[in-house]
Amino acid sequence: MSQAATRNFCIIAHIDHGKSTLADRMLELTKTVEQREMQDQLLDQMDLERERGITIKLQPVRMGWKGHTLNLIDTPGHVDFSYEVSRSLAAVEAAVLLVDASQGVQAQTLAVLYQALDQGLEIIPVINKIDLPHAEPERRREELVSLIGCKPEDVVFCSGKSGVGVDQLLDAIVARTPAPSGNPEAELRGLVFDAVFDPYRGVVAYVRIVDGTLKKGDGVTLIQGKRTTEALEVGRFAPRRTAEPELPTGTIGYIVTGLKGVADIGIGDTITLTRKPSTKALEGYRKVTPMVFASLFPTDADDYQVLRDAIDKYALNDSALTYVAEHSPALGFGFRCGFLGMLHLEIVTERLQREFGAETISTVPSVAYELSVTSGEELEVTSPSELPDVTRIKELREPWVKLEVVTPQAHMGAVMELSNRHRGSFVNTAFLDLDRAVCTFELPLSEIVVHYYDELKSVTSGYASMSYELLGFRAGNLVKMDMVVAGEPVEPLATIVPRNLADSRGRAMCERLKELIPRQNFEVRIQACISGKIIASESISAMRKDVTAKLYGGDVTRKNKLLEKQKKGKARMKQFGRVAIPSEVFVEVLKR
Ligand code: GTP
Repeated sequence: MSQAATRNFCIIAHIDHGKSTLADRMLELTKTVEQREMQDQLLDQMDLERERGITIKLQPVRMGWKGHTLNLIDTPGHVDFSYEVSRSLAAVEAAVLLVDASQGVQAQTLAVLYQALDQGLEIIPVINKIDLPHAEPERRREELVSLIGCKPEDVVFCSGKSGVGVDQLLDAIVARTPAPSGNPEAELRGLVFDAVFDPYRGVVAYVRIVDGTLKKGDGVTLIQGKRTTEALEVGRFAPRRTAEPELPTGTIGYIVTGLKGVADIGIGDTITLTRKPSTKALEGYRKVTPMVFASLFPTDADDYQVLRDAIDKYALNDSALTYVAEHSPALGFGFRCGFLGMLHLEIVTERLQREFGAETISTVPSVAYELSVTSGEELEVTSPSELPDVTRIKELREPWVKLEVVTPQAHMGAVMELSNRHRGSFVNTAFLDLDRAVCTFELPLSEIVVHYYDELKSVTSGYASMSYELLGFRAGNLVKMDMVVAGEPVEPLATIVPRNLADSRGRAMCERLKELIPRQNFEVRIQACISGKIIASESISAMRKDVTAKLYGGDVTRKNKLLEKQKKGKARMKQFGRVAIPSEVFVEVLKR
């Protein structure tokens, strides 16, 4: 395979605009996968990805098309996983920008397009799902033409579902993607754009060879990490890993490194030959920054070791998760974790339970704060419990984001109102066409990470979409709010809130807890407090819950089954004083 006949590209799009389905058709059409092996979303390898119908991890694959070698990287569309997109972009020359023919350009379309343009990639605009009855391909084409400044005839129409137009798209990719420009004679330089952990073979690094050639058995060094190891096997993605003797300039493939965990290999690092090294590291890409922090504790304190093993093993494969051990007086030993967003948090906890049997309870998610204390120290705080006494706080700063919302004009008022309610300030509006606008706001990150997306969908009948990027930290008048349940402060429910909104947020928390905490045999008071002063309260009236009450007659087995179920339910609760709180409450409580 020659360098001149190689084309490296990725598919980028807003969530659900059909990347994985289109990739399936490409695999079929290029006969990369036999018809009988074909299944939907073939590149989404995790069970969780298939069940939820979302791509979580980027996935490369190599295909052949009319004498050319095409390396495709399928990327996730959800905003939580945009760091995966930025990594894929660094490894390719072109981006297929997919737009749903019925929905048009959405917020994530803009975000990924800007990223691809920043990387200097060739953009191949595509209108997908033209088979849909309410598809408006012409209108969407105009939108794309005015957005990118391309010619109308540059826009490819296709349907990943029916397969229409996919062959023309492959032709366009071959014609418009520049061949990789690296130097085959130079010292080896390969960009590590991802890594996975294989329990039998150690870390498998995904690389884009920029200069030189890597052969099986070569000694390799990571320029920045300064680690040295051996390329035990090299190969391509077909789409399963398939060994080859070498990876030449310009290609995308994998290296079995034998390293023990993804933490051993810096993603974004440059791999070179140990015996003839290059000293010039390639430009990596944006570092991963955790956006949301929460502590995970085993539901049963005796299971700390199970959680510890689970999280260590899980992290071998997810370089975006950060975690450090911690101890809480209320919940025992656990881990303070950093996540990319709420979806990432949900996925991590679900996978810990499914794949490693570790049941966890999470504290209320929080963003990271910067803190200046009166003694002159500067601290980073990722949990309300770390906040010192108010008298020691000189200034508390919280992260702010630039938020872009794409919405039909008819819903602009509702979008503005929503942003106002969340302490947002309006920046400007631009129009995509006569009907649809992009509204830009600045808001505190804490206002949008948990529930903003769902609220936005609900106030715009599902029509708006959003994306955001970090702006920096700004000082705020913020206070810690404690929640007291039946006289007992429940530490994992503490939050940091703006002082002027504390009353309404306190009331909302109390009301939400009233819905979420099961009734007890006694009346339960729920209170929100700031520095010991009660600012809101609710109570849950007493009730004895007898799950067998409806079972008159003597069906003992059924009765036992119900009692057993109730017992299991109890195991997922955490006792605070006299009240047992179900573990889901801590994540649910912020959702209004
Ligand atoms: P993420 O990876 O989660 O961002 O999603 P995706 O962009 O990979 O989208 P995916 O391929 O999973 O498709 C989303 C939904 O759109 C699925 O229900 C598909 O069946 C449907 N879909 C995809 N392509 C087409 C198409 O060409 N026509 C129609 N009618 N439906 C499509």
